[in-house]
Amino acid sequence: MLQTQTSVRPAWVEIDLQQLRENFRIIQRDKPANLRFMSVIKDQAYGHGAGEVGKVALEFGASHLAVATIDEALELRKTGITAPVMLFGERTDEEFKLCLENDFVCFINDIEKAKRYAQWSADKNKRAPVHVEVDTGLSRYGVRWTKALPVIERIGEFPNLIFDGVMSHFAMSDELDKSFALLQLERFQKVLKEMEHRGIRVKYRHICNTGGYLDLPQAHFDLVRIGILPLGVYPSQVCRRIPGIKPIMSVKTKVAAIRDLEVGDYVGYGMRYRAESPRRVAVLPLGYGDGYPRVRNKGHVLIHGQRAPIIGGNAMDAMMVDITDIPETKLWDEVVIIGKQGNDEVSVHEIAQLKGSVSYDILTGWSWRLPRVYCNK
Ligand SMILES: Cc1ncc(COP(=O)(O)O)c(C=O)c1O
Repeated sequence: MLQTQTSVRPAWVEIDLQQLRENFRIIQRDKPANLRFMSVIKDQAYGHGAGEVGKVALEFGASHLAVATIDEALELRKTGITAPVMLFGERTDEEFKLCLENDFVCFINDIEKAKRYAQWSADKNKRAPVHVEVDTGLSRYGVRWTKALPVIERIGEFPNLIFDGVMSHFAMSDELDKSFALLQLERFQKVLKEMEHRGIRVKYRHICNTGGYLDLPQAHFDLVRIGILPLGVYPSQVCRRIPGIKPIMSVKTKVAAIRDLEVGDYVGYGMRYRAESPRRVAVLPLGYGDGYPRVRNKGHVLIHGQRAPIIGGNAMDAMMVDITDIPETKLWDEVVIIGKQGNDEVSVHEIAQLKGSVSYDILTGWSWRLPRVYCNK
């Protein structure tokens, strides 16, 4: 359940809406004027809140909002968003009927589905917007590039479907090695060329996520689908940087207890830390149940702008940090888990490394029991 600002829990996720607007402003200046963008806000805009991020994205001219599940899409409509909402992936028949009722934009990648969707659409006296996904190498959703043309040709023929777009998705667009991305692009271009030869036109041709947007301008076509970039996080350490883009999410807590360790004392489950000298420890009321990776003697938090190492194994609801070298620490002092404090910063990439994972996983991994606090509305 989404907790809001009304919670008084001393552990929370802070979202800076002013920086979100600034990031969109910077992206707007960075991108070619005629290039449209879709705002990918699945999984609560990667943990930031889909409604809040989606509304700002629309203020900055997003052509669509994109999500991955039917419930996410319905929730957007419930918050009053009437803009085009695209649903990534495949749908069951039951889902398709709700898509039709709510005017969602779906993918139709085979002719049998197209027939059924067109029929339901006709029954409701509607024309439903659809896109076709061409699988150019990710081997996830979509029709294989070598088999795409007959599907594309046929889908364009249903009077109750608006054939609005053709897309593909990169397997790796944000690393230095672009060879596979370029191969995928070539396969996509081949399909587009053949469409052109046959006089099939669509409004939106799109293949780029953030990595593609940043590093592959030749792949922009009509529309890019960006999720992580407006949140101020880059998909990799090596993709192009845009000056001024900054993270909008911080995770914070407060010191809930302070204790002094004597030589030989242990800390945390599994007895993974033993004090070799007298130490002072702060207990923080946030643990792996809140989305922090399950670590042992790894990672840092910021207290009074200084790094305090995590000691022992963290628990579901708590973690312990060594504050011996930060003697000014008092009960209920603010602690930064992710974000800036003083001159230092714990980045989402740093936490991702602790987990052996990627920034996307960390952003989306913060539990909804951590209240979201929206600043600078
Ligand atoms: C189909 C599709 N397009 C675009 C995106 C957005 O990717 P990014 O957050 O890297 O911009 C995603 C997210 O994973 C996706 O699944």
